[in-house]
Parts: sequence; C-alpha cells; structure tokens
Amino acid sequence: MKVLIQTDRLSKYYGKGGEIKAVDNLDLEVYEGETFGLLGPNGAGKTTVVRLLNCIIKPTNGTAKVNGHDILKEDVEVKRVTGLLAESPGLYEKLSAYEFLEFMGALYDVPGDILPKRIDELLKLFGLQKRRNYLLEGYSRGMKQRILIAAALIHDPPILFLDEPTSTLDPRAALMVRDLVRKLAEDAGKTIFICSHILPVVEELCDRIGIIDKGRLIALGSVDEIKTQTGKNTLEEAFIDITGGVKKKELLAWREQRGAGA
Ligand SMILES: Nc1ncnc2c1ncn2[C@@H]1O[C@H](COP(=O)(O)OP(=O)(O)O)[C@@H](O)[C@H]1O
Ligand SMILES: [Mg+2]
Repeated sequence: MKVLIQTDRLSKYYGKGGEIKAVDNLDLEVYEGETFGLLGPNGAGKTTVVRLLNCIIKPTNGTAKVNGHDILKEDVEVKRVTGLLAESPGLYEKLSAYEFLEFMGALYDVPGDILPKRIDELLKLFGLQKRRNYLLEGYSRGMKQRILIAAALIHDPPILFLDEPTSTLDPRAALMVRDLVRKLAEDAGKTIFICSHILPVVEELCDRIGIIDKGRLIALGSVDEIKTQTGKNTLEEAFIDITGGVKKKELLAWREQRGAGA
C-alpha cells in the first residue's frame, strides 16, 4: 500500500518555553485511498496536526511528507495535493454558491477552461444545483458545510482533510455529510483524513483510526484492533479508558444510571 502521508517525529509546541505540547513526536502513516480518522478529546492536538499537514503552521520539530512533498520545503506542492475543510472556516456570505466556487477555483489556479465544468460536477455531487445562484447567507448550516467541502475539492486534490466536519450540524445534516464523505472515498477514490471527537462518525467512516491525547498518539489501528488492544467491547469504552482514567468512572456511571432509569 502506498503511503500518502508520513509524519516523522512531528511536533508543535506553544508557550514561552514551549511548555504546551500541542503535537508531540507524532509518527503516523496514512495510506492511499483510505479514510483515516484522528480521534481525541478537545485540546488533544487534532487541529494542530491538520494545520501542520496543510502548511498553515510550521512544526517546532520533526517534519512530514504529504504525497512525497516535505511540509518544510514544498508548501506550494503540498497545498496542491490537499483540500481542507477547516474547523471554523470563513464563508463569503454575499456570494452565490457558484461565485464562491469560482472564487476558490481562481485562488487555486484552476484553469478557466475546466473550472465551469468542475463547479457543475461539484454542485451536482453535493446536491446544490438548484441553489447555485442563491447567496450563501440564506443557506442552512448543513448546506454551508457541503459548499465548503465542495470548495476544498475545487482543485481536485487526492487528499481531503476534514476537521470536525459534523460537530456543528444537526443529526440530519450530519448524516448527509457522512454519506457524502463515504461517496468521496468510495466513488471518487479520495484519501480522507478526518478529525473528530465524535465517536460514531469515526467508527462508521474510517478504515483506520489514530487516537491522540495531549499531542501524543496513544492507539492506532482499525476499530476492531483498538478494541482488542484495549480489551474493550466498544470504541467508546476504549476511548474513555485510554484518554483519561479519572473521567472514566464518572462517564460510565452516568451512562449506567441513564440505562437503569430508562
Ligand atoms: N495558536 C496557539 N497558541 C497557543 N496554544 C495553542 C494554539 N493552537 C493550539 N494550541 C493549544 O494546543 C493544544 C491542542 O489544540 P488543538 O490542536 O486545537 O486540539 P484539538 O483540535 O484536538 O481540540 C491545546 O492545548 C490548545 O490550547
Ligand atoms: Mg480541533
């Protein structure tokens, strides 16, 4: 299997003395065509990993290769092969869906003779054809999320990063985004890197997952492998077990109470 993303002791420290270790000596490989999930509690370092791999910030130590390109030296090449749905992205509300995609296409140097066709395909795939000329300010949250994912694909990158793609969506919109991600992986053959703290999203979509906590990778494998590694029956139990023993009792107690009360 071809390795598309490979991190090499990737680290990002913040604070005066570098005491906040957002990402700490991360070694990780993502294979071509897989949907990889980076799972971890709030503040674990997921967004920082995504920013590093998209050359938005530079590492303190270590490096990574994305489709063979070094994030330290080849940021232009890296950006050409990655698309990113950021955690809290900006949207130009006064543009229509079509205009927004046109604008993003221009930013990514998509040639003018192929851009209209690309936009049409994306609007169709994302079920937004009918609304193509409406201003984004009138879009629902779920529709906005779809147009942002479409924008991330405007230069047809082989790798798509999705940072918390469903966290702000209602269940129905979240389901739609989930189906879309599946379609992108299966039909369009994209390699997808998803960050989430929501277990079902990762559990359903991902071929393999990595769990990080305090910037360090603490588990890696398929959902089944992680359950076996931790000796737990569900990913939720495994996650709680390995990301913090203190909270474990409280959380499970709460769940048992709820179960007993029902
Ligand atoms: N620009 C920054 N300056 C200082 N600390 C930061 C910065 N970005 C992230 N951090 C810290 O790094 C840690 C990891 O953050 P983040 O990558 O956003 O986690 P996650 O996405 O898993 O919730 C947190 O402790 C966060 O406060
Ligand atoms: Mg985050």
